[in-house]
Order: sequence, then C-alpha cells, then structure tokens
Amino acid sequence: MSGDVLVKGDAGSCHPKESHSTAQRRWRLLARALTRSPEPFTETEDEISMRRFTSFGLVNPVILENAVTDPESSWYEYSAVVDSKIYSAEIRRINKNFTANELIGFNNTGNVCVWPSEECLAYYLMKNRRICKNKMVLELGGGMSCLAGVFAAKYCSPSGVTLTDGNVTSVDNARCIIARNDMADFIKCGVVQWARAARVLRQAGVNGNRVQTWVTEAADESRRTEGLYDVILSADCLFFDDARLDLVETIYGWLADGGVALVMAPRRGTTFQKFTEAAIKRGFITKQWERYDPVVWSRHLELLNHNPEYCPDLHYPLLLELTKQKLPGKV
Ligand SMILES: C[S@@+](CC[C@H](N)C(=O)[O-])C[C@H]1O[C@@H](n2cnc3c(N)ncnc32)[C@H](O)[C@@H]1O
Repeated sequence: MSGDVLVKGDAGSCHPKESHSTAQRRWRLLARALTRSPEPFTETEDEISMRRFTSFGLVNPVILENAVTDPESSWYEYSAVVDSKIYSAEIRRINKNFTANELIGFNNTGNVCVWPSEECLAYYLMKNRRICKNKMVLELGGGMSCLAGVFAAKYCSPSGVTLTDGNVTSVDNARCIIARNDMADFIKCGVVQWARAARVLRQAGVNGNRVQTWVTEAADESRRTEGLYDVILSADCLFFDDARLDLVETIYGWLADGGVALVMAPRRGTTFQKFTEAAIKRGFITKQWERYDPVVWSRHLELLNHNPEYCPDLHYPLLLELTKQKLPGKV
C-alpha cells in the first residue's frame, strides 16, 4: 500500500494519548508527500496508522504480471475460497504519489488500500450470495476497488449494480475494473458525494417530490423515477464525523421499503456507535453482529493472539444491518 494519508483523529485507538490537531497532522502528511521523503514514516502514538494491519487473508491479491500497467497502478487477481469454490475478480490498485491537490482535496482514504472491511464484506457476500440475488444493489463509498460490489455483480446474480464513491480518482479506477472484468453493460458507476445526495433527498422530502437516485450520465434510467435500491453496501465509511448524517440520509433515501443496508466498519472509538444512533434516530431498525461469520471470527481470534499490530477497535469490522421501519398506514 502506498501513501500515509490516513491518520487517527476521533476514530479510536488502542493506545489513548493526547492528540495533535487535525490541521497539524494534515500539514505534516502533506509536507511528506510533497517532498516525497524516503524515510519511513515514524508514527507517533497518537497517529496510529489504521493501515498497519491490512487484511484478514479472506480475499487474497496476486499480482497480474502480464497486465498492462502504468507507473501509478497495478492489477491484481483478488480471490476468495468459500466452501471449496473460488471467487475472483481482477482489481486495479492505485500506487501513485498523490499531488497536493489530491491530498487536500476530497477525502482520499479509498485510494490508499482496499480496507479490511471491504474485504470482509466481499467475503460475507460470497458466503451469503442469496442476499443480492435478483436485487438492485448499490455500493456507497466503495473506494478504488469497490471490491464487495464487484464480487456481488460477478457472483450473486443481482438485477443491477451501481458502484459509487465521492472521490473522482476512486470512481475512475472502479470504471477501469468494471471494463477489465467485462461488466460495463451490467454495472453503473458514478461519483456520489453524500452531502449532495442528502441535500437533494431532504429537498425532495420538503417538497413532497418522489425520491430520485443521483443524476449523472451513468445513472440507471429505469430507476430514476423509483430511485430505490434493495441492497445498499458500505464498508469502512463511518468515521467521518462531518459526513455521518449525510450518509445516513443517503441510505435512508435510496433504500427501498423491505430493503437492507449492510454496513461493515470497525468500532473506531465511538464512531460506529454514533452512526448507529443516528440511523435509529432517522427511523432505521438496526441489528448489529460481531460474529457474523465463523471464518472471519476465527481469523480475528488468531490475530488477537499472534499479531501485535492487530487492534480490534481499529481493524475488526462489525456488521450493521439497517432496515426501514414501516410507516403507519403503509402496506
Ligand atoms: C476508508 S475508505 C473505504 C473505502 C472502501 N470502502 C474500502 O473499504 O476499501 C472511505 C471511503 O469513503 C469515501 N467518502 C468519504 N467521505 C465521503 C463523502 N462525504 N461522500 C462520498 N464518499 C465519501 C472516500 O472517498 C473513501 O473511498
């Protein structure tokens, strides 16, 4: 993985410590990126890298040596073995040194790695393929790989899949992945920033308009008037304090009655809890699982015993399921 873009803010810690201001941390990271300092990043304890632990070894990448690459990306085959069957997809990873504009621009966390929550969500969907079967599926904040959405599209027989992120570089990368896996006819992909989506949804609510999905050239025309998804996926998107309510609103606005949102994320201090509380306040019924899969759980226990870098608060994803409460009078 490249880049030292992500630092701990209010996002939990294994070693509680006095913290620097977010601005100080950002400027240090920016200075390092601009000078491309070759020295290893010496993290202070209050800058615990959430990236030290990278994978549960559930969906494993093998580099594709013969893929055409450029200096800023590499192709991998990501594969998972579930019940003796192999599930795989070709995934492009970004390796670039980010520019100053990229670092200070829209959130860049989805371009530094495929996060363990995304891996666990992809694996969970392969174990439970019926969840997405014949369903309209949307991934929010899928990052550069949108791994869970790509696996769902390839192996779960959904009726449609839409992959999104707020970061343009992530979405461009996801488009390359869709093309290479020959799924361009089947998967839609576009930039969705939750603040914008939530604003439109709130406005629609105030005006009593019908809800619409986001409108870009990639939007699924047939869904524009209904605008709803049966399954919404999101991995490791809960630690952005400023965006939390917008993410809740976006999921609420775009989830069909009877649909389900599967949200995977580590606790990261109080961030998971705050998201859950906001979701309940908005009208979701929530269910939360720590042991949602025996294999993931056993990896977690092994890591706890053998890997000093592993910190469950930062790394072990919980599964949160959101469904909508039936409105009175609705059948
Ligand atoms: C930690 S990354 C996780 C990416 C991916 N799900 C994974 O686990 O590999 C968080 C993702 O949320 C996206 N994101 C953050 N704030 C957002 C916002 N306000 N609107 C849309 N996407 C946002 C980022 O661009 C990033 O891709």
